[in-house]
Amino acid sequence: MTRIQNSVVSCRWSFVRGRVSRLAFLCMLALGGWLTQAQTVPQVPAILLGTAWYPEQWPVSRWDTDLTLMQQAGIHMVRVGEFAWSRMEPSEGQYDLDWLERAVTAAAKHGIVTVIGTPSAAPPAWLTQKYPETLRTKEDGRKEQHGNRQQFNFANPKYRELSRAMAEQLAKRFGHNPNVVGWQIDNEYAEVSFDPDTKAQFQQWLMNRYGTLDNLNTRWTTAYWSETYFDWNQVPIQVGYGNPGLLLSWMRFVSDTWRSYQKNQLEVIRANADPKQFITTNMMGWFNGYDHYTVSQDLDLASWDDYVGKGHLDPVRNGAAHDLTRGFKGKNFWVMETQPGGVNWASINNWLDKGEVRAMAWHDIGHGADMVSYWQWRSALNGQEQYHGTLIGPDGTPDPLYPEIVQIGQELAKASPVLAGTSVKSEVAILHSYDSRWAIEWQKHNKNYDPVDEILSYYGPLRKTAQSVDVVPPTADLTKYKLVVAPGLNVASEPIAQNLIRYVKNGGHLVLGQRSVMKDDDNGLWPQRQPGPLADLLGGRVEQYYALVDPVAVDGKWGAGESSVWAELLSARKSDVEVLMRYGKSNGWLDGQPAVITRKAGKGRITYIGAWLDAKTMANGATWMTEVSGVKPAFGPVPDGVELNPRYGGDGAVYVLVNFATTPQTVKLPATMGDVLNGAAVQSVTLAHYGVAVVTTKK
Ligand code: GLA
Repeated sequence: MTRIQNSVVSCRWSFVRGRVSRLAFLCMLALGGWLTQAQTVPQVPAILLGTAWYPEQWPVSRWDTDLTLMQQAGIHMVRVGEFAWSRMEPSEGQYDLDWLERAVTAAAKHGIVTVIGTPSAAPPAWLTQKYPETLRTKEDGRKEQHGNRQQFNFANPKYRELSRAMAEQLAKRFGHNPNVVGWQIDNEYAEVSFDPDTKAQFQQWLMNRYGTLDNLNTRWTTAYWSETYFDWNQVPIQVGYGNPGLLLSWMRFVSDTWRSYQKNQLEVIRANADPKQFITTNMMGWFNGYDHYTVSQDLDLASWDDYVGKGHLDPVRNGAAHDLTRGFKGKNFWVMETQPGGVNWASINNWLDKGEVRAMAWHDIGHGADMVSYWQWRSALNGQEQYHGTLIGPDGTPDPLYPEIVQIGQELAKASPVLAGTSVKSEVAILHSYDSRWAIEWQKHNKNYDPVDEILSYYGPLRKTAQSVDVVPPTADLTKYKLVVAPGLNVASEPIAQNLIRYVKNGGHLVLGQRSVMKDDDNGLWPQRQPGPLADLLGGRVEQYYALVDPVAVDGKWGAGESSVWAELLSARKSDVEVLMRYGKSNGWLDGQPAVITRKAGKGRITYIGAWLDAKTMANGATWMTEVSGVKPAFGPVPDGVELNPRYGGDGAVYVLVNFATTPQTVKLPATMGDVLNGAAVQSVTLAHYGVAVVTTKK
């Protein structure tokens, strides 16, 4: 029973005695107070629209007008505070959070809940002046200075002490505020420090990992170029170019340090906050400055900042980034920031087309976003981001985009109850690992080899064919997938190799893409040829890899096409290995040799693709992969340019369809369904350019 229900019972009891006792009077007061509080707690829908609001930049007298405009647009969430440290703690230990509480209360009166950002991405000037060690040291040895943001040293104990104290004040004040639904720690972790103390911490980290210098020297093969270390304090920091074991160790240290940086604040929030309030941080899609799986472990919710920058939304690249973010916690996520039309930091800050922002919002939700929040509500009159897109202008009146946001808000009001409790479920997984992306980035071997592009060359056709794809780390439990595809899984430790072998033996279909399982856990070469410990299961191997200047023809079961950038000469060493594709005439070495091989193994199947296939051939490959694995897409084939996004709940499915093709497209539904936005039963939907339909099997 809740506090309020309890009080109602005891109050009723004092009234039935026929007189208004003192107890009854006190009850009336208390109940009145609670009910007022209860009434002001916004009842927000399952899928939220939000915006980044900076009340500290505006007079209090303006807040209500802003919040009214937000409410009219259907906005139910504001994120506040993440850069407001100088306002929250104007001098050391003097905290002022009254204004923030007023802002949270004011928002609630407009049906808007709040996410509070801890302000550690922007320390105040007094702090870094008094404690200069808290400023980060750049790679060239120079110190950052005040005046931008992210100038702090993520490994510095003093900075951690001060940012924890700030987070604790916030948590104590707002941890049980019913209008605060969650916390964002810091903002877009990115900049690391190269100061001597951080280096000493790195050396300590190496000591913990490797135990002895002998072990480190062996696993990094430091006999090479006389790199041998005789003392831990001789180990340098190297980024970009250096011993591959050292490079990977530094990035793992960076990831662990971001994790402990985050934990430092997270602990005091958890200790003081209602467990109903979630804790997240806003990540950045394909950004690879740290291992997001490491950092996500302690969070309740994954969220990311989804910007297009120059050009227009690429639903494949962006959709895969959503699926990647969804994979951090294996559940629905939030888009904590997205662009209201345009940004200010791209090479050309073009505006998204009319209708594209709405299409993007639905694309986000289709991929599992339960909140889409625009950065930002209104630009500060001064400051570095004056040209960034906003929802209202410097004069405080709506921008031309505002009505489109209103439309999204109205549509969400209809769709939210149907989408509530639904999530994405996929039969296909793509494996993604930061270790592998870094390893390839450091030794591309062909300047055109982009590991994310490689992943997308698989993801695009597979998503179209299977209509839903998860992106998960190679350590994940793979048993629920019918098909697991690992493009460029370059670094694969023994436990990862065993996870994959188990998956195949138990009946899964594993497809390894080019450059897979070449390196061990220290970014050293496996002493076996690719795919290292999986070569035996595959019954074949990579005899040689070739960086390509010109594309090479390929031909076979998936039709005639070509391989560009990269080609691996495969061999079939067991009699039951099937060669699916072969290279055409090329450098002599590759001519007529296997480019794709497959073998039934255990209860499952393993396939290796050594070529970087063109889109059409890969599309045929994706059809073969899904068919041979028994993957069942939700719909029949949908027209090119239409994105189909299924979300499933206990009582049925919801399908979000978005048309990115420039001409109208009609999609025939597999059954009669409810059209959520238009309120009719439909058997097909016709979508204009950027058109959206939400249909459901739910009754
Ligand atoms: C990032 C930041 C925001 C803002 C936007 C601008 O996502 O988190 O504070 O600078 O970029 O696009």
